[in-house]
Amino acid sequence: MIAPTVPILGIETSCDETAASVVAGAREVMSSVVSSQIDLHARYGGVVPEIASRAHLDLIIPVVAEAMIEARVVPADLGAVAATYGPGLIGALLIGVSSAKALALAWGVPFVAVNHLEAHLYAAFLEEPDLEMPLVVLLVSGGHTLLIRMDGPGDYHIMGSTLDDAAGEAFDKVARFLGLGYPGGPAIDALAMTGDPSAISFPRAILNEGYDFSFSGLKTSVINWVRKHPDVDAADVAASFQQAVVDVLVTKARRAAADVGAKGLCLAGGVAANSQLREAMLGACVTDGLRGFLPSRSMCTDNAAMVAAAGYHRLNSDGPSPWDTGAVPGLSLVG
Ligand code: KG4
Ligand code: ZN
Repeated sequence: MIAPTVPILGIETSCDETAASVVAGAREVMSSVVSSQIDLHARYGGVVPEIASRAHLDLIIPVVAEAMIEARVVPADLGAVAATYGPGLIGALLIGVSSAKALALAWGVPFVAVNHLEAHLYAAFLEEPDLEMPLVVLLVSGGHTLLIRMDGPGDYHIMGSTLDDAAGEAFDKVARFLGLGYPGGPAIDALAMTGDPSAISFPRAILNEGYDFSFSGLKTSVINWVRKHPDVDAADVAASFQQAVVDVLVTKARRAAADVGAKGLCLAGGVAANSQLREAMLGACVTDGLRGFLPSRSMCTDNAAMVAAAGYHRLNSDGPSPWDTGAVPGLSLVG
């Protein structure tokens, strides 16, 4: 059992953010450094895996050094080095995993392999350690859309997931079609502020059925609508598209919370930074008498503080990870 005051170094390289953070006992964020590669990928309209891996290789040690200096810790202070080992881009993950193992071996501390999706769940607990269970978490990122019932640390049950595109993927694809660049989520979020969310009635797929999601029909519907109405105000399209995504996400999350008798609803993942989703989710929680928890925006998008926090819990429950741990690009949250 590692003491809750011992600092853990977390490393995150699963996609296009090179991040390192020192967190004491899954509670106190002593430093959190995130170096985004957005500028490198923007001209290609999305993340180029080969470029991401090379950039992680260049940046990983400077980012780790910055996180250690900012936290005012030296290697002898650390209780472990944790790194994301999946899901994500294989080359990108390999840089983080091998750097973390090398540092842990050299510094004589345990290495802990962390599931990126579990790390997103722990982002909420970093800011609100006393969240009551059972809790329904809506984890919405570039690669995943999951409705999760959480009964305790490490105790998850997936209630629903996407049948096609992830929520963030839908934002990115629609933004790309509208010529808003990469990453699409923040661009649509900003443009939608000046648009009318009821201007166009886009479909809300399988709204009243089960807990799964489907966003690819919505994306196609946006594309077809814009092709038929080339003079449409892009802000109205962005706002109407965003409203459709938010309606589906919030409706299903509320229903899930009611069905499992959850004490609260929590958001996680990059799309949880979306202004409209945050507002709608908080409003729904007030109406339904649920405790609503929205991590700060910087904790929603990829960062290493959440990796260090998840690493602390994994180390205490499972012990150190083996030195031959590899990267698992298709890793899932459970099983
Ligand atoms: O969690 P994350 O940083 O990385 C993954 O694990 O995928 O999520 C990235 C996704 C991208 O699709 C991005 O467009 C989306 O989160 N995103 C947003 C916003 N900020 C980031 N989507 C909607 N509104 C935002 N403000
Ligand atoms: Zn993520």
